[in-house]
Amino acid sequence: MVILLQLQPDQMISCQNIHKSYDQLRVLKGVSLEISKGELVCIVGPSGAGKSTLLHIIGTLDKADQGAITINGQDISKLKDNELSDFRNRHLGFVFQFHHLLPEFTALENVCIPALIGKKSETEARKRAVELLDFMGLKDRMKHKPNELSGGEQQRVSVARALMNHPLVVLADEPTGNLDTSRSEELHQLFFDLKKEFNQTFIIVTHNDQLAEKADKKLVMRDGLIVS
Ligand SMILES: Nc1ncnc2c1ncn2[C@@H]1O[C@H](COP(=O)(O)OP(=O)(O)OP(=O)(O)O)[C@@H](O)[C@H]1O
Ligand SMILES: [Mg+2]
Repeated sequence: MVILLQLQPDQMISCQNIHKSYDQLRVLKGVSLEISKGELVCIVGPSGAGKSTLLHIIGTLDKADQGAITINGQDISKLKDNELSDFRNRHLGFVFQFHHLLPEFTALENVCIPALIGKKSETEARKRAVELLDFMGLKDRMKHKPNELSGGEQQRVSVARALMNHPLVVLADEPTGNLDTSRSEELHQLFFDLKKEFNQTFIIVTHNDQLAEKADKKLVMRDGLIVS
């Protein structure tokens, strides 16, 4: 009998049967998904469906009660706590609804932080940060602090920060939730540019239908399950 191995060289993320409860509340009830390298995947669904919980678990910020997750072939359940934080810093980029930039640092310094945590030299960090901010159209705003930037600019700085360590995947939770329509469209365009230019993989939780419709894959969550 010939057994055909299913080779998936482009597989970036695989979740199998993820369960998560908070006390009596079953939030994830067996979520499975596959994401390939360079895919831009949106997760949509009503409030309370478990979207952020799933994103946090994929992002190693929270732990599943049951199920398996591999990221670029690495089974993350096998990592110890100190290895997890190192993995997170090296390989994952995060963009949240509220940018979480540090107010006392400039845009450039904020973008450098993940590289400095990853023990890169300051020269190397600044070089990459300048390149990224330039790509984001923020070359003239690098020396400004977050409160001197518009909401859209702040969010682009947080995208640059997320990309600093060449992450395997960028995880975004309602990244445009706090932006008006035209700033949201600009940020969405930036995600598609990054995908096209660098084959960047994205998982984006969003309530924005326009973005979800343009994604490579749209996963609909309802009541702790992916329903389509
Ligand atoms: N740390 C926690 N402790 C207890 N319950 C939690 C915790 N985090 C989330 N929940 C609950 O789990 C359910 C799913 O929450 P989650 O944040 O994943 O929803 P969501 O799909 O992201 O919703 P929204 O679109 O409103 O952001 C909710 O009922 C929420 O109250
Ligand atoms: Mg949420």
